[in-house]
Amino acid sequence: MADGNTLWHGRFAGGPSEALRALNDSLPFDRRMFKEDIAGSRAHVQMLQAVGLLDSAELSEILLALDTVEEEMEQGKFDWAESDEDIHTAVERRATELTPAAAKMHTGRSRNDQVANDVRLVAIGEIDSLTEVLAALIGALLSRAQEALEREIYLPGYTHLQRAQPVELAHHLAAYCWMFLRDIERLGDARRRADVSVLGAGALAGSSLPIDPQMVADELGFSKLFANSLDAVADRDFVADLLYSLSVLGVHISRMGEELCLWASREFNFIELDDAFSTGSSMMPQKKNPDIAELARGKAGRLIGNLTGFLTTQKGLPLTYNKDLQEDKEPLFDSCDTVRLTLVALTGMINTLGFNVEAMQSSADSPYSAATDLADFLVERGVPFRHAHATVAGLVRKSLADETELVELVQAHSDLGPEAAELLQRGSGRNRRNSHGGGGAVAVAAQLAKLSELVGALR
Ligand code: ARG
Repeated sequence: MADGNTLWHGRFAGGPSEALRALNDSLPFDRRMFKEDIAGSRAHVQMLQAVGLLDSAELSEILLALDTVEEEMEQGKFDWAESDEDIHTAVERRATELTPAAAKMHTGRSRNDQVANDVRLVAIGEIDSLTEVLAALIGALLSRAQEALEREIYLPGYTHLQRAQPVELAHHLAAYCWMFLRDIERLGDARRRADVSVLGAGALAGSSLPIDPQMVADELGFSKLFANSLDAVADRDFVADLLYSLSVLGVHISRMGEELCLWASREFNFIELDDAFSTGSSMMPQKKNPDIAELARGKAGRLIGNLTGFLTTQKGLPLTYNKDLQEDKEPLFDSCDTVRLTLVALTGMINTLGFNVEAMQSSADSPYSAATDLADFLVERGVPFRHAHATVAGLVRKSLADETELVELVQAHSDLGPEAAELLQRGSGRNRRNSHGGGGAVAVAAQLAKLSELVGALR
């Protein structure tokens, strides 16, 4: 280990207390941004050389040192020093040990613009990787939907968790695809907000040196450059944007998780979980538990917590950088890691689960699920919908009260009769609602074609 001097010890007579270091150091969690930090330093020193603040020999030495630092960190060989309070300090300290030229590395830069830029690069990288992971889940749902449509599987659609109207299973699965596609859009919005270079803002006010922030932005591949140095070092909106996107995604995952739990229960019995994606009970030998779906449901809590926690941290902060902003990283990392783990497990679960076709379809075949179709039958014959609704509702009431089969009542009814009674036949409701975006097989086939196009474009 190297000595215990901090970057800023020159101003101080005594060393920092242990308690201060324990609270203040961010190295335990920000070391995971070492690649982004080193990339930022490479771009920065290249710019320093271009504007004449470093000579070419110094630049080469610093770049070489940065390569070594990166390699050591990558391979877990890096000798962390007592004085390394954060990743920025550690990289610069080690580079300076490797070459004295690195003492010029921090010219025209502050950790305030440096850290903001690092976190922006992290956010962009995470968004790109999470988008891929999410696209894989959408792909899995879509291919199960295509399979379900081919197998002509239908199930009850629900409102108020009461059986409502039969729909294609493909329709139900595709609904989640659309939710997750919106999440990809939201992640894209957060990415645009993160995609702004802020290196060159200095501690808060820019620099008296002839630095060229645009060059750094271009080198790092950012689309935009900050306009106001105060805003640049104080702004963490992009972190909140990402945490929000991940919270909405978390809510979607949670809703799907709940549905999978219901479907896997013996009460519904709509799906059979693969052994590799379910768990058992230590006491009850008969149990097969949907833990992945439950965790998917539960993780929304911490995702929303990370968002509200970090918004609360920022609330009331005066311009510009305040140490409170160091609190941006842990929720960001945690939300990204949480979503990634959950999505991967859910994708495996979706890919491998079995459909209990008989249970789904017999639940959908309840004659009462055809009540709206009976009303529509009357509407097609000129009966105002309100009157049709009342007629069918009366038959349903009578059927329940007298324990008479609805089909008998329909057959006997003068405005309905045998033709209408056919609407109550097993499976006859599944392909009836083919209006745009509807749950019938024809409409669903068109929908899946559109989805495949969109999912294909993601790749
Ligand atoms: N570790 C700090 C953070 O994460 C880096 C910036 C420190 N800046 C400062 N002026 N102390 O925010």
